[in-house]
Amino acid sequence: MSMVLDPNSATQRSYAESLDAADSLAKYKALFQISDPDLCYLDGNSLGRLPLKTVEVVNHFLTQEWGKELVDGWSHWIDQAQPAGDLLARSVLGANPGQTLVCDTTSVNFYQLCVAAIKARPGRKTVIIDAANFPTDRYILSGIADQLGLNLITLDNDGLGGPGAVPIDAPDEMITAEELEKYLSEDVALVTLQAIHYRSGARPNLKEITDIARKYGALVVWDCSHAAGAISLDFEKNGVDLAVGCTYKYGNSGPGSPAWLFVSKRIQTELRVPIQGWFSQEKQFEMGPFYEPAETIRRYQIASPSIIGIRGVQVAYEMIEEAGIEAIEAKAALGTELMIALHDAWLKPLGFELGTPRNPKLRGGHIILKHKDAKQIALALRKLKNVIPDYREPNAIRLAISPLPTSFVEVWDGFLRLKELVESGDYKSVQIDGNRVT
Ligand SMILES: Cc1ncc(COP(=O)(O)O)c(C=O)c1O
Repeated sequence: MSMVLDPNSATQRSYAESLDAADSLAKYKALFQISDPDLCYLDGNSLGRLPLKTVEVVNHFLTQEWGKELVDGWSHWIDQAQPAGDLLARSVLGANPGQTLVCDTTSVNFYQLCVAAIKARPGRKTVIIDAANFPTDRYILSGIADQLGLNLITLDNDGLGGPGAVPIDAPDEMITAEELEKYLSEDVALVTLQAIHYRSGARPNLKEITDIARKYGALVVWDCSHAAGAISLDFEKNGVDLAVGCTYKYGNSGPGSPAWLFVSKRIQTELRVPIQGWFSQEKQFEMGPFYEPAETIRRYQIASPSIIGIRGVQVAYEMIEEAGIEAIEAKAALGTELMIALHDAWLKPLGFELGTPRNPKLRGGHIILKHKDAKQIALALRKLKNVIPDYREPNAIRLAISPLPTSFVEVWDGFLRLKELVESGDYKSVQIDGNRVT
């Protein structure tokens, strides 16, 4: 797929149709449940669509495995976090086998890896995060800092501050190695950032940041929730040591599907997790009196894996592997390029402002558009226009192309409806309804 978009043709629907016609990934849309063909679902970065095969595979698991095998099933279910992790590593992380597990939630995995990393740097008392990081990461790290008596630095890249906030220069929230280095020292144990920012979509340089932290002896935990399945992460090439992420966004594995964690072989046996569950015990079924962690990636597993959840992960990442992460990344780049061209032509004159880098290499599968009435507009898009985006505080509408289930025409139609909604002022009739989920 060509990376070049013709901005002069972007406002023609026939142009979006021609992009679909040339799209080698277009055929994947039919492999998902599309209940309403008129719906423009531009929120696949929040919850991916349901692959039809998942219904079949999960149903087969229920009736033919759990239902029939009962407890004997554990003889072949017990280690499934590892092959599922290897599949994910191969298909989206650019990582070798034996370093990834599909387990628990991103939040739990984040806690496990952050504490393990901090403990691996005894005597160091500083940890660093950024203000634009996803709330769960900020809150968990601040809890860890309180528990362990650490100095928490929040790089203030969105103006909203946070514990130990220091202002930094960060257009579109982007963290650079240069900005980070100002706060690195021999006292820093851990830095944690996102591979794609959940709000702005900015994509920091994994290698440069990991390298600069390593120069000061610090470890980096990357949260790849908005990156895995949208861009090529190349963990081996980028020298990533520690990462976590979810599978329910571009991974299309279902609400609350198991997350993943990655620990590079370089440091695998050096670290000790804080939650020493029985799955991490070397001789798990001896059930002995003392804890002895396994020497493999199982050292990072807490507990019984969700086999139903893992089956959904397997279906989705096999599809991603077949499609190829490079092709997926190229479509995400072109789809977001189309969004930006339509923003420039239609939305900028209506008071919108792009909050995402224009260089496709510096973003993933989503963009944000800031507007003073963003919350009301996002709600009205759902209620009046059959377009699903999401809203992120304080003033952003977030819109994504999930390359396997989303077409270019779906993006184009969604943007036209957004233009019409704001141009007409119709969105003003919609009352903010107090739904907890935005
Ligand atoms: C960057 C990031 N980290 C973590 C999470 C949430 O993690 P969990 O699955 O533990 O709720 C999200 C959810 O959207 C996220 O965007």
